Amino acid sequence: MLYSVDQPSPEHPAVRHAAAVLARGGLVAFPTETVYGLGAHALDARAVKSIFAAKGRPADNPLIVHVGTADEAFALSDVELPMARGLAAAFWPGPLTMVVPRGKRVPLDVTAGLDTLAVRVPDHPVATALLACFKGPIAAPSANRSGRPSPTRADHVMEDLDGRIDLVLDGGETAVGLESTVLDLTGPRPRLLRPGAISADELEPYTGPLDRPLIFSPDTAGDEPLPSPGLKYRHYAPDAPATVVVGTEEGRIETFRRLWQSGKGRDGFLVSNETAAAIEGMDEDEAVFLLGPRQHLDEAARRLYQGLRSVDRPGLCSIYIEACDLDGIGAALMDRMVRAAEGRMLHADGDPVS
Ligand code: TXA
Ligand code: MG
Repeated sequence: MLYSVDQPSPEHPAVRHAAAVLARGGLVAFPTETVYGLGAHALDARAVKSIFAAKGRPADNPLIVHVGTADEAFALSDVELPMARGLAAAFWPGPLTMVVPRGKRVPLDVTAGLDTLAVRVPDHPVATALLACFKGPIAAPSANRSGRPSPTRADHVMEDLDGRIDLVLDGGETAVGLESTVLDLTGPRPRLLRPGAISADELEPYTGPLDRPLIFSPDTAGDEPLPSPGLKYRHYAPDAPATVVVGTEEGRIETFRRLWQSGKGRDGFLVSNETAAAIEGMDEDEAVFLLGPRQHLDEAARRLYQGLRSVDRPGLCSIYIEACDLDGIGAALMDRMVRAAEGRMLHADGDPVS
């Protein structure tokens, strides 16, 4: 069941209905500023288990708990970490997830048996209204079938989960388009587990030097698998093998010209507007998805998963994705691109790097 929520408030009938569904242990998909989440009552172990069943998610991959305020977040943890308040004041509501010690009230099903808990305060009027009406914590992974791209629109959720969940609140396309930054505060040093819209540089004034696992580097990528912790879990990769094309602007254009001319009708492409415009006929080809202007990484972030969903059609031989700069949200964008490509990169100005 899909309800659109145009004037979100805790009194909105669809929001009240969704809160009632959560209270009786049901599953509700709702928009956040990053991607759509698939929510269940976080303190109801049985409801939480049904999230894993609906998504086909491995039971050892823990969930993020969503709450309305920092106080509610820290009430779920038995120990308050000194730096957490400062981070919350700076970045919540917003696309930052903090991993903190798990309080005993939180069922182990949420954390996949871990003694740590991921929490965040989302910044989306529908999520805020739902949390205010439900008056409790909502456990929510991204609302996709396991192995599919995270949903940035309600129709993506329907595509993956219709018939397996109770309802979807439609709040339009999500603003960020990539999952939140995940920051682990429970180790000896704060550690970035997943890059997102809030960059490591923005976090460091609050955390001091961050442990940043090597997520991506065009120079060092070799035969080694990417050493990022999230890779332990299967991440979305399209059916057709994808490759990220890195290099100078001119090199990328030349490489895409060659790939597009030889791969017409067989391959799919995700490129910047400028690259498509520089190649005669390319921006009119339906196998080409435009990620937006090269300088607008926010737009590419918002469009990436839609693009991957739309090019991932049966029968394609290969998918080629144009790399982006690593500033700001670019690091998170490249992380998702390289994961979709399972680490495959093609260096436009020289040898393939992997
Ligand atoms: O933006 C987002 O974070 C979205 C929206 C819905 O909030 N949610 C999301 O959830 O992306 P999910 O389940 O797709 O990704 C959660 C990530 C996973 O990589 C998981 O391993 C990690 O957070 N995580 C959750 N709890 C953790 C914990 N206790 N320790 C370490 N990592 C944890
Ligand atoms: Mg996910």
